[in-house]
Amino acid sequence: SANVERADTGAVHVGGLSVEKLAAEFGTPAYVFDEDDFRARCRAWTEAFDGADVFYASKAFCSKAVLRAAAEEGLFVDVCTAGELAVALAAGLDPARLGLHGNNKSLAELHQAVEIGVGRIVADSFQEIERLEAIARELGKRPNVMVRVNVGVEAHTHEFIATAHEDQKFGFSLADDVAYEAARRVIEAPHLELLGLHSHIGSQIFDTAAFEISAARVARLQAKLQTDFGVRLAELDLGGGFGMAYTTQDDPQTPAVIAESLRRIVADECAAAGIDVPRLSIEPGRSLVGPSMFTLYEVGTVKPVTLSAGASRLYVSVDGGISDNIRTALYDATYSATLASRASGAAPALARVVGKHCESGDIVVKDEFLPADVAPGDLIAVPGTGAYCRSMGSNYNHVPRPPVVAVSGGEARVILARETVDDLLRLDVG
Ligand code: LLP
Repeated sequence: SANVERADTGAVHVGGLSVEKLAAEFGTPAYVFDEDDFRARCRAWTEAFDGADVFYASKAFCSKAVLRAAAEEGLFVDVCTAGELAVALAAGLDPARLGLHGNNKSLAELHQAVEIGVGRIVADSFQEIERLEAIARELGKRPNVMVRVNVGVEAHTHEFIATAHEDQKFGFSLADDVAYEAARRVIEAPHLELLGLHSHIGSQIFDTAAFEISAARVARLQAKLQTDFGVRLAELDLGGGFGMAYTTQDDPQTPAVIAESLRRIVADECAAAGIDVPRLSIEPGRSLVGPSMFTLYEVGTVKPVTLSAGASRLYVSVDGGISDNIRTALYDATYSATLASRASGAAPALARVVGKHCESGDIVVKDEFLPADVAPGDLIAVPGTGAYCRSMGSNYNHVPRPPVVAVSGGEARVILARETVDDLLRLDVG
């Protein structure tokens, strides 16, 4: 992230604080959150999408301090469970500035959202539209509903996280007019207000063309609905999924380039259909928070392993692993690692950063060159772990999850405490 640099001693500093000081004060492993960097990213997206609503997708990382920071920077927040909603409310966010997602929201979740006035509820099935209408009628409310459209774009990303091809669980298909029919039902439901359509095609996407095709399709359907039913749909949500750089190989588009292309596509579709351009909204998660954190680990053991080719690899074991970052194992994600506590003049050696869990897939960074003298007690930093690492963390092997330490204005504070074995034992009531 922007505020990370190496001092003359070779130690990595974030926001002016050395990683050794952070490790001494807060322990390892720890996620270090560069709050100023996160806020700058929030501003970059809201400025690029000036006049549009930017929703922070809290699934990427959800804590009170981070949601509050996003809200202070003018963002809205997207939640997809009662749990994420509870964090947003505990952070003091205005329910009107929240959006609720999910393909299987419970009745209790829908009820709560309608009751407290969540700004938009994104409907994902015909059954859910019926449930929403019944709840709204019972409560005497008229919630804003968006209809999630599956636009049929297969984005070039890992198949597990590409969501807008046909054979998957999210949204109403454009094919066979399913999405059209869903929107019609919301328009005709007496207690629901159709705010507009929603699409989200997947995550970690670099190909702007995928977003453009999706935006064109969903804008066209929105225009057709307006024409056919004589209604004005106020908003069009184009989802999130904008890629971030995990390594120097990745080259994401800037928010400005993305905003410019999406605006143009939607404007063209609306002009062709002779309708006013709706207000746009987007829901980035990863691109906002991902680059703003790194994980700080301490090296425990270093083991040279001879490879069949005759070469060797250093297995560098750190004090966390698959429980704080499952993305390498699950998606074959690529991270980098750096020796963060000191400079080293040693030659670079082929290394693999692995965790302390009992399985060989417990890999944090698959291939990296680290100084050959990397040793127990050294600190290793793995950048780009702000999104979907803590939020997808687990207690595998009863390893407590690391804290999140926020650095801002030259000061560090814990925003999410380190879990303890006692926390885990508390739940073990047998
Ligand atoms: N909106 C909706 C409806 C979503 O489903 C998602 C992500 C987002 C927005 C935010 O997408 P982002 O801008 O963060 O890419 N666990 C996977 C990613 C799953 C994404 C799920 N939905 C990973 O670690 O790569």
